[in-house]
Amino acid sequence: MMRILAVVNNKGGVGKSTTCINLGASLGEMGYKVLLVDIDPQASLTVGMGLNAVMGKSMADVMRGDKSVEQAMQRGPVKNIWVAGGRAELTDSQYALYRRGDVETLKEQLASLNGNFDFTIIDCGPGQDFLTTNALVAADRAIIPTRSQFFDMLGVGQFLNILGRVLETMNPSLKYWVAVTFYEKSTRDARENLEQAERYFGPTLLRSLIKKTVKIAEAPAVGLPVTEYAPRCEGAEQYRCMAREIVERLEKNENLKTLAEEAERQVV
Ligand SMILES: Nc1ncnc2c1ncn2[C@@H]1O[C@H](COP(=O)(O)OP(=O)(O)OP(=O)(O)O)[C@@H](O)[C@H]1O
Ligand SMILES: [Mg+2]
Repeated sequence: MMRILAVVNNKGGVGKSTTCINLGASLGEMGYKVLLVDIDPQASLTVGMGLNAVMGKSMADVMRGDKSVEQAMQRGPVKNIWVAGGRAELTDSQYALYRRGDVETLKEQLASLNGNFDFTIIDCGPGQDFLTTNALVAADRAIIPTRSQFFDMLGVGQFLNILGRVLETMNPSLKYWVAVTFYEKSTRDARENLEQAERYFGPTLLRSLIKKTVKIAEAPAVGLPVTEYAPRCEGAEQYRCMAREIVERLEKNENLKTLAEEAERQVV
């Protein structure tokens, strides 16, 4: 069974694309066949994998209904990874989806892959538009990366609330995990915030934290996941740890709250 993970947060620069790249590469190392889908017009995932999606063969065409995901995908630079790349024209595709009120194109497209992959990971841009809604409708799990600062986590609470209301009818069974990124263990503030996050997010918080490290930030410029660029560095090990945790938790079929149930919950 193909698992579909959507990496989302309306806040920018929280490590969404970095998480897609490195979680994907780590799952690939474990032997899973992984498709990374870039639906952000910034195309950070595509560029970070050292790729370029040509016009007429990108997710912009897929989301307009002109091409299939299969036609848009290419081999990634590491084992077991395929990438359906993004381009700036995704902005136009977004308007087209909006005009049609279309939230199902991505779900239908991924269904046509007939389980050729073990995992599909979708990288969303910041904000909440029709591309993101398409990803959330297609997904089995949302992964919400967040920095561990207070305002960022408060923002996640509010975001969950909005998403919950949107998804009540569109994908009522969607569950989610929150992933802490840019963690700075040495500061007291970060440790205190983490404790608060554990209390607030409970079992939806992934145990594997991603620390703020230089190697993670350097890797996209050479077009490789950090697991390939600096395989033994801390950041690479942390993303492998996240991949193992996700596989374990999916296998356990844990009883998490759905995003729709979050609509009931008070903002912190
Ligand atoms: N753990 C980390 N340590 C250091 N730098 C990081 C880490 N994670 C991401 N970065 C860097 O921070 C920047 C933002 O990360 P990224 O692009 O993954 O965020 P994003 O949420 O996808 O942003 P956007 O909302 O613009 O799509 C990038 O330059 C990335 O290389
Ligand atoms: Mg991004």
